[in-house]
Order: sequence, then C-alpha cells, then structure tokens
Amino acid sequence: MRFIETWIPATLLSTRELAPGIREFLILPERFDGTAYPVGSHINVAVTIDGLPETRSYSLVGEATSRGLRIAVRRAEDSRGGSRYMWSLQPGARLDITQPASLLAVDWTRQNYCLIAGGIGITPILGAAQALARRGAAVTLHYAVRSRGEAAYLDDLAAMLGDRLIVHASDESSRLDLDALFASLPQGVLALFCGPMRMLDAARHAWIGAGHPLPDLRYETFGSSGTLPTETFRVRLKDSDVELEIPRERSMLDVLNASGHDVMYDCKRGECGLCAIDVVAVDGEIDHRDVFFSDHQKESNQKICACVSRARGTITVDTLLRADAV
Ligand code: FES
Repeated sequence: MRFIETWIPATLLSTRELAPGIREFLILPERFDGTAYPVGSHINVAVTIDGLPETRSYSLVGEATSRGLRIAVRRAEDSRGGSRYMWSLQPGARLDITQPASLLAVDWTRQNYCLIAGGIGITPILGAAQALARRGAAVTLHYAVRSRGEAAYLDDLAAMLGDRLIVHASDESSRLDLDALFASLPQGVLALFCGPMRMLDAARHAWIGAGHPLPDLRYETFGSSGTLPTETFRVRLKDSDVELEIPRERSMLDVLNASGHDVMYDCKRGECGLCAIDVVAVDGEIDHRDVFFSDHQKESNQKICACVSRARGTITVDTLLRADAV
C-alpha cells in the first residue's frame, strides 16, 4: 500500500563497466526532457525476482543531462536479487521506473562542505560534488574504497575536484579515520554521507564526538547493507496463527503485503519510517537497516522498518491491520 507512486515506461539505452562488479545503466524514460532533479535523487525500478514483481531503489548518478538517467549497480552476491536482475538486462530492454525524488536536503549556503562516500555510495555523492564544484564551494570529498581499481568514477572525480578528492584505499593502508576527519572540520560545515550501514554508524558517532550538530550530517545508505548476513527469517503475527517466512531475496514489507497484511510504505529505503511496525517479541536478533530510527530506538527493538530491516530467527510483530481474509 503506497500513497503516491507514478510509474513511467523507459528503455535501457546502454550499459558501461565502471569497475569490476560495478555497471552503469543509462535509462531513457518516455517523454524525457532532461529536467533537473534535486541532488541525492533516486528512482525506483520495477524488477522481477524469482518470477515475482519487486521494486528496487537506485541513486541517480550525477546531475541531469539530456541523454537520460544514470544509475550504477554493484553486483552483490549477498544481495536480495535486485542487482542480479539489473545485470541480466541488455540494451533495448523495457523498464518501468518512477520519477526522480530526493530525501536528501542540502543547504547550499554553508561555508564548507565535506562529502564522504563508501564504495558504491559514491553514486549520490557524485551529483553533490558536481553541484558544489559548479558553485565554487569549499568542498572536499573523502572516498573510501577497497582499492583504486574498484573505485567507480575515480577519473571523473579527480578531474572535477583535483586535490580536493582524497581516496582512502584499504589496500594502500590509507583507511578513512572518521574521528580524525570530523575533528579537523570547522564548525558550521555540512557533511553529506553515503555508504554502508556500519560506516554510517561510525560516522554518526564520530560526528557527535567531534561536537558537530547531528542535523549537519546528512546521509543515505543502502537498504541492502546491515550488520548481519542477509538470510531467511520468520515473522509471527500477534494474536494469530500466521507465521511467514521472509526469504533472503524478499523484504518483510513485500511478504506482509503479498499475504494481505497491509503495511503502508513510501520510500522503501529505510528513510521515511512509514513502514514501521510494532515488534512484540524477538526470538533471535533484529538487524535494523534503516536510517529513520535513532540508535536508542533501535536498541529498544520496539519497532522495525519492514522495508529494509531484517532479523535472525523469529520475530513477532503487530501490523495493527489484519489480513483481508482474517
Ligand atoms: S517505506 Fe520508508 S522507511 Fe520503509
């Protein structure tokens, strides 16, 4: 059950290998006019996983151009199937996508900006770097990767930012020290972050530790990254005999809705909190993968964002709404 979601037909124009395991997709929506979209925008793409319709959300790469919309997808063996589907597509494939939308608010009036990207998290950050560089803003980008050979868009970024691009490559023993970085930043700086959940947790702690206001750290993460491996778990519904299996390639939200236990949603990225449902009991462990709840709320395990968060074992939830058939 979603409030507003307008799907538009589109065509995959071309693909391009950016780095081992990272492929760029150029997508042309019908009646596309190259209208600018906000920094940090993403689109949803209708995918088919094990014969079932699903949606996946991908950040748009860079600022708008008249050629179409760019996304980059890392082929992840531990994924829930979206990247496998995307990688199976050939140029000319028909797609259904949503209009670009952004939940990442950027204040363009700051004196200083710090961009931080972890791996494929560079995709929304690239557009922010372009926009800030174009404005002549004081911006530095810290790009954490396993190796330079696995870093997408490195040449583009180096040409755009010069020595304001700092690459932290694990294989060069130049790991990103977030505590030291944030402690060195002036007050009033705005930081934009995109990376995996563990890195985001570290960034939030380091940001607060350095005395910066938390709202000045704006972030996105990937719905597929968590602290536990992605595996099958079970969900019991309170006061009913219903117990559902959530396979590794599907979300709790999709399984609940497909079985008639309506849960409202919007972003499907763990950002808006609309899909949050009450947790009644945990027999195992919850892997909160959203960026909506605070650390304290996550520790209390009273609610879970059904679109991205997962679990090990069995959890009992109360969706408050009952299945049509019940
Ligand atoms: S739908 Fe937005 S957090 Fe789940």
